[in-house]
Amino acid sequence: MSTNGHPHALPLPPAGSLESVTETSATVFNWKYDLPREPLNALYEKGKRLQWNASTDIDWSIDVDPEVFPEFFPAEAFNTMLDPPRKLGLKELKTLRVNQLGWMLSQFLHGEQGALLATAQIVNTVPWTEAKFYAASQVADEARHVEVYRRYLTEKLPFGFPVNPHLHTLLSDIIREPRWDMTYLGMQIMVEGLALAAFGMMYLMNPHERLLHQITNYVIKDEARHVAFGVLSLEEFYRGISSTELRDREDLVIEAAHLMRDRLLMHEVWERLGWDVDEWVGWSLRTPFMTGFRQLLFSKIVPNLKRLGLLTPRVRDAFEKIGVLHFESMPDSTQDEGITLPPAIAMFLSQMGAPPPTS
Ligand SMILES: [Fe+2]
Ligand SMILES: [Fe+2]
Repeated sequence: MSTNGHPHALPLPPAGSLESVTETSATVFNWKYDLPREPLNALYEKGKRLQWNASTDIDWSIDVDPEVFPEFFPAEAFNTMLDPPRKLGLKELKTLRVNQLGWMLSQFLHGEQGALLATAQIVNTVPWTEAKFYAASQVADEARHVEVYRRYLTEKLPFGFPVNPHLHTLLSDIIREPRWDMTYLGMQIMVEGLALAAFGMMYLMNPHERLLHQITNYVIKDEARHVAFGVLSLEEFYRGISSTELRDREDLVIEAAHLMRDRLLMHEVWERLGWDVDEWVGWSLRTPFMTGFRQLLFSKIVPNLKRLGLLTPRVRDAFEKIGVLHFESMPDSTQDEGITLPPAIAMFLSQMGAPPPTS
């Protein structure tokens, strides 16, 4: 199943290879060049110190076999722990694993491209010089993330997937948004907050796949800074916000939460496998294990929104309904270091016997 040494092209979405999104944001010069925001200056220094090179710091010679399951979660555990609509044989389980991995990493790749473009926009639109500096260093990080996932998908996995329609909607909405704080809120807080939790799970779920483990370890440390960038920038801005302005931010948070939690359900995988899409999507929506997994994706987002003062009654109500409000007591991302996982994720994975993170 491995395609080592034979790179292939990624499949395109229906609209083709290029898509233009028109946005109307104002580009802001700052002629004062003052740098009064110490936490952002410190984050920028850290970002420069922790740059890495995707071509030389990653060992691309590692051979990848995507059909291999981790020791702590053998193939048969899928049938016994996840209660699928029908028991799957070993061959099907392997095929499913390759599809899931390809789908997940493809959505990571597309999300990384979204982060690259959105953060480039922030360089222009944010009025503060320190934030322009930091955003510029994040742009370099995101280019590297696109680079590594593109390479892994095309050289190490047999196939990838086009951007999921709901992720596409979310990313385009963020790019189209002219207000700079809304770009941050959509990208750094919602999309990257979710990505940080998803990468954390990817890291712990794949200790046996050394290349993916290496990549994830690097990427996750960058992402922790990106989410902190969002929190540190927005907490100042949201202190003086009016109730009308607040309502727009609540709308964005609630809409993004719904797009991310209930609509990223791997339809494309079931379709590609020729399985009954409604049946498998229904299973994914109601099985406690799968529901719990999707809720864990909010373990970074909720405490960060709380710190920003955005866990308002409306947002709390929406989060209560999707079962993620209990994450509000977790530490927010200004206290995050590298791959520190929220206790809920760590506990969930240790119950399954996953080894603790090694760095
Ligand atoms: Fe990234
Ligand atoms: Fe990022």
